[in-house]
Amino acid sequence: VRELAGRTAFVTGAGRGIGAAAAHRLGEAGAAVAVVDRDEAGAEEIVKQLLDKGIPAIALGCDITDEREVEQAVRRVSAELGGPDILVNNAGVLRDNLLHKTSVDDWDTVMTVHLRGAFLCCRAVAAHMTTNGYGRIVNVSSVSALGNRGQANYSAAKAGIQGLTRTLAIELGPKGVTVNAIGPGFIKTEMTAATAERIGVSAEELQRRSAEITPVRRVGEPADVAELIAFLASDRSSFITGQTIYVDGGRRL
Ligand SMILES: NC(=O)c1ccc[n+]([C@@H]2O[C@H](COP(=O)([O-])OP(=O)(O)OC[C@H]3O[C@@H](n4cnc5c(N)ncnc54)[C@H](O)[C@@H]3O)[C@@H](O)[C@H]2O)c1
Repeated sequence: VRELAGRTAFVTGAGRGIGAAAAHRLGEAGAAVAVVDRDEAGAEEIVKQLLDKGIPAIALGCDITDEREVEQAVRRVSAELGGPDILVNNAGVLRDNLLHKTSVDDWDTVMTVHLRGAFLCCRAVAAHMTTNGYGRIVNVSSVSALGNRGQANYSAAKAGIQGLTRTLAIELGPKGVTVNAIGPGFIKTEMTAATAERIGVSAEELQRRSAEITPVRRVGEPADVAELIAFLASDRSSFITGQTIYVDGGRRL
């Protein structure tokens, strides 16, 4: 069903991984898609795939931590594709370390990309959504928000995303905009492959270990997360707002 026909989605970090899967899933449901990523070549590659499927899409090389770049990107999307009606705040980075080894730079980088980035995109896109009286914002948090060794910065940022979500749900609900967060568990992407490399095991070995302690006995695929994003981006979820929904195969850290 093309239930998102006529909608435009602005997906950050969509040049690969979970964001790319979300771009495909939203496009398959009928949305036009703005593929936003700091990695412009990655964004262009995903747009090529979307256009091949007949999905209207544009690539935007944009660093979500830069206020001017975000404002410009949203203006361009609004002019070329309309909306945006759907915002997926997905771009993210890791700078994992135990507290005593965490530099101020690593702390600031993680806070800036996740929190300042999500704030800037919400502010810019919400202006269009409230004018149109309709919007869906999906913020990507993580099971790490509940606490995870070696991720003080990331855990704090992902918990912050949940507070941002609850507050914007209150502020924007009366204007027809719902705001929810999702909390993926272990998902097979370049992010978790990089974690494996950092701790000195193969990506497959880390996946095997993770599957073993997950109730459904497997790790997640980007498509598992994209499915929930598509539901929260649709009209079907109109009475759900301010929530964090975990997509983790039953695993809590
Ligand atoms: N993979 C997992 O297991 C997992 C689990 C929980 C949460 N998450 C979250 O899901 C989201 C996507 O993760 P992924 O695994 O697909 O990661 P990934 O590293 O594969 O992709 C992240 C994308 O974000 C882009 N990006 C990073 N900083 C940016 C910036 N400042 N401006 C614009 N783009 C930027 C990168 O270029 C990259 O294309 C992240 O927010 C991550 O924290 C992932």
